[in-house]
Amino acid sequence: MSNQDKIKELIELRAKAKLGGGEKRIESQHKKGKFTARERIDMLLDEGSFEEFDMFVTHRCTNFGMENEQYLGDGVVTGTGTIDGRVVYVFSQDFTVFGGSLSETFAQKICKVMDMAMKMGAPIIGINDSGGARIQEGVNSLAGYAEIFERNILASGVIPQISAIFGPCAGGAVYSPALTDFILMTDKSSYMFVTGPKVVKTVTGEDITTEDLGGANVHASKSGVAHFLCDDEEEGILLIRKLISYLPQNNLEEAPITECNDPIERIDEALNSIIPENPNQPYDVKDIIYSIVDNSEFLEIHRNYAKNIIIGFAKLNGMSVGIVANQPNFLAGVLDIESSRKAARFVRFCDSFNIPILTLVDVPGFLPGSTQEYGGIIIHGAKLMFAYGEATVPKVTVTLRKSYGGAHDVMSSKQLRGDVNYAWPTAEIAVMGAAGAIEVLEGRKLKSIEDPEERAKYIAEKEEEYKKKFANPYNAAKYGYIDDVIEPMNTRFRIIRAFQTLATKKDTLPPKKHSNIPL
Ligand code: HXC
Repeated sequence: MSNQDKIKELIELRAKAKLGGGEKRIESQHKKGKFTARERIDMLLDEGSFEEFDMFVTHRCTNFGMENEQYLGDGVVTGTGTIDGRVVYVFSQDFTVFGGSLSETFAQKICKVMDMAMKMGAPIIGINDSGGARIQEGVNSLAGYAEIFERNILASGVIPQISAIFGPCAGGAVYSPALTDFILMTDKSSYMFVTGPKVVKTVTGEDITTEDLGGANVHASKSGVAHFLCDDEEEGILLIRKLISYLPQNNLEEAPITECNDPIERIDEALNSIIPENPNQPYDVKDIIYSIVDNSEFLEIHRNYAKNIIIGFAKLNGMSVGIVANQPNFLAGVLDIESSRKAARFVRFCDSFNIPILTLVDVPGFLPGSTQEYGGIIIHGAKLMFAYGEATVPKVTVTLRKSYGGAHDVMSSKQLRGDVNYAWPTAEIAVMGAAGAIEVLEGRKLKSIEDPEERAKYIAEKEEEYKKKFANPYNAAKYGYIDDVIEPMNTRFRIIRAFQTLATKKDTLPPKKHSNIPL
């Protein structure tokens, strides 16, 4: 073979590899409204930046006549490229080759890019669209999954790991995405479950559709497995690019600082009247977030799950911050099992990756009741406390209105190593609300008042007295638990300046193998 023929052969092999499982299967993928593995990578990465690895890898299985069915690349496209000029590593499962199922060599390709991502200190992005373990390969496939899982675990807290689910992701295969930092799913075309509807029916008798069991909506709103719900793959890809823009490359770096054209001293007079006069009236804390962050841009995470707490990324003077805010608009912003877990994991992500945390507090307490107690609110609430208390990144807290009881301590209080704790004049920082307090403190006296009118009058008087004494920020400020009471309209400026002064913060944990967070 002449050298020219060898080059021609290479070009032909490349063209063949790019066709994956062939034109017919590509067509079928498109008919389902899905893109191919390569199209997804092309959309994700900066134009022309993709460097592919292992295009000529083929499987080694000889069971069921598999030696006669070989596809270059073996069902997964892997490599590296850039997003806004920053290096990332990617793998994208190719459903057109054996349904994107995972073989021994398929797993080796993924492990190779994961190892490179770790060495280079760059994020890894996995696009999942797979029928799971390649049945013909038996235990080699299971071993391949476990190799990936171990790498996910070791990479946790070292490089950001992002999983997109753009098709099936079932059985043990779900555990690789579950071990990563963020999962996004496409509506109606993706699903995740440990056991599918048929097995569910056989084992438990329950009749349930794929969508109802593990569709994107279910995981974005009920289970909390998915952080983002996207209408389609294009939206999902754009979201990954956006998410990456808030993150550092690895745990030893800071997130990129972007140019900020939103004046840091911008005041917003509307904030001075955003808290309703009636303390039981809700308002949307997102209005406050949009008002104080750069250009009102806020990337909300878990938008449809545990809506009583808001989490997400924004920029303040071009610097990435993670925001945690109680949401009075939903369940009065109470802390419960789901909201505690949601916020705790986010706080830990931010702390792992040197992203400062802004906490906006308006919390009436923990949700009472047997459902919460039986579900282990004690342990789940402790997760959030643990995450805040352990976090060494700069932490700025602003108490907007209520901050009661244990929930006050949990929400990045001074004693959990909060660095700068501000309060608005509307803050109420106390052990409990007036009504509950009077019931406890005045119980004996109240029992002795028989006339209902007289009783109500007495309660009102005592509540007023309690509110005057405790439903304000000054009691906490008197002890230095609050560093300053600030005018709401100046909040943007005050928190940016606080974060600027905290930029050189150094804080540590006692030497240990690792902590034992209440899981
Ligand atoms: C080998 C597979 C495969 C698999 C699909 N294919 N899944 N080949 N191993 N796991 C092949 C099909 O034979 C078919 O080949 C092609 O992929 C497309 O599959 P279709 O069934 O035609 O596609 P569709 O109708 O869209 O259905 C997709 C599907 C279905 C729902 C994913 O294929 C399916 O149920 N597959 C099996 C899923 C499964 O039980 N996997 C094992 C889970 S247990 P041709 O040649 O016709 O194109 C597991 C354990 C992991 O994964 C443990 C980790 C610890």
